[in-house]
Amino acid sequence: MSSQDSRKRIAVTGGAGFIGSNLLLHLVPRYPGYLFVNIDCLTYAGNMGNLTTIETAENYRFEKVDICEFEALRACFDKYEIDSLIHLAAESHVDRSITGPAAFISSNIGGTFNLLELARERTANGRPFRFHHVSTDEVFGSLGKTGYFTEQSAYRPNSPYSASKASADHLVRAYHKTYGLEVVTTNCSNNYGPYQFPEKLIPLMIRNAISGKPLPVYGDGKQIRDWLYVQDHCKALDLVFHEGKAGETYNIGGHNEIENIEIVTSLCRILDEILGGEPRKKLITFVKDRPGHDRRYAIDPTYIKEQLGWEPKHTFDEGLRKTVQWYLDNEAWMESCTSGEYQKYYETMYANR
Ligand code: NAD
Ligand code: DAU
Repeated sequence: MSSQDSRKRIAVTGGAGFIGSNLLLHLVPRYPGYLFVNIDCLTYAGNMGNLTTIETAENYRFEKVDICEFEALRACFDKYEIDSLIHLAAESHVDRSITGPAAFISSNIGGTFNLLELARERTANGRPFRFHHVSTDEVFGSLGKTGYFTEQSAYRPNSPYSASKASADHLVRAYHKTYGLEVVTTNCSNNYGPYQFPEKLIPLMIRNAISGKPLPVYGDGKQIRDWLYVQDHCKALDLVFHEGKAGETYNIGGHNEIENIEIVTSLCRILDEILGGEPRKKLITFVKDRPGHDRRYAIDPTYIKEQLGWEPKHTFDEGLRKTVQWYLDNEAWMESCTSGEYQKYYETMYANR
């Protein structure tokens, strides 16, 4: 970078994934005075096709780098003189963490450790470095029929995925307490919306329902997740990155607690309305449950609302209809995700359920 270039330089890891893409599509046009460097190694979940509308933007660059590779990461941080980070890169799918936890340990714990070390190195000469760690509500484990996760909730992760994210959260906290690194952590509930990889509940059910395939609901389908439209999450990330207090954590959620079976039924109803044909509800098939399946998640977002004034804009019904329409309008995108490796994944994950 030229020494004349005094722009803020923000690395966004995992920028080719679901939330990362939505975040960059929000940030790049909004902050022309910053430089955004998308650092992503393009696992199965990374898709450069998500970013075509910003790929030639003057304030955007892409670097194919694995966060587990310390020297490559350092070269990238040096090249762009990175001074802040929004860290989203992670293995993110709970079912994959059950069948193959190793990648979750390397990327989610080892990768986060590398980024923290780099940030520490960059602050050695007294330079500021802001580290925003993007985490999940799954670190808090499972709720009973009542109650909410707050910023004070105890950590009780139950899957290899959530345990790896919890470990990363603890490392981030330790780097603040021990080295004074300027960190903020956000713990968000289940996101849905455009560009979500079709291994996750909502896009998987939309895809199967469109093509008349069974809709595999785990266990009794009465598990509860707290759903948030991805663009509402991105606005919260923007706010916390800019205004969140160093050392604080913020829970992000939209008070949308819904049973899985209700979501699948709603998706069938929306698709029936748009496409007509036989009622898709009859495709619902109850299958073997996920081991260690958390029963209920629910976020209390009072703190972020009171401190930073954040509130979600989308109701669940609006968000779900927009999401269904997006997948119907983007068949080629779905095809690009589900040709090749996906078939093998689906077979392994669902054949014996
Ligand atoms: P995703 O799986 O869609 O995308 C992850 C991205 O990270 C991909 O582009 C992938 O290529 C990249 N990546 C993975 N390992 C990497 C590595 N070693 N080096 C570089 N890049 C790597 O995930 P997502 O759903 O967009 O989630 C993003 C972040 O938000 C994750 O940290 C996740 O834990 C967190 N989160 C997700 C949700 C949700 O509902 N999806 C909710 C709360 C928090
Ligand atoms: O809560 C935040 C978390 O939400 C994020 O940290 C994770 O990265 C993200 O993947 C998501 O985790 P979940 O396990 O809640 O999401 P998933 O879409 O895999 O499953 C949602 C619910 O639907 C869960 O109770 C399992 C159920 N399910 C899922 C699939 C894929 C089914 O019943 N059938 C399915 O085929």
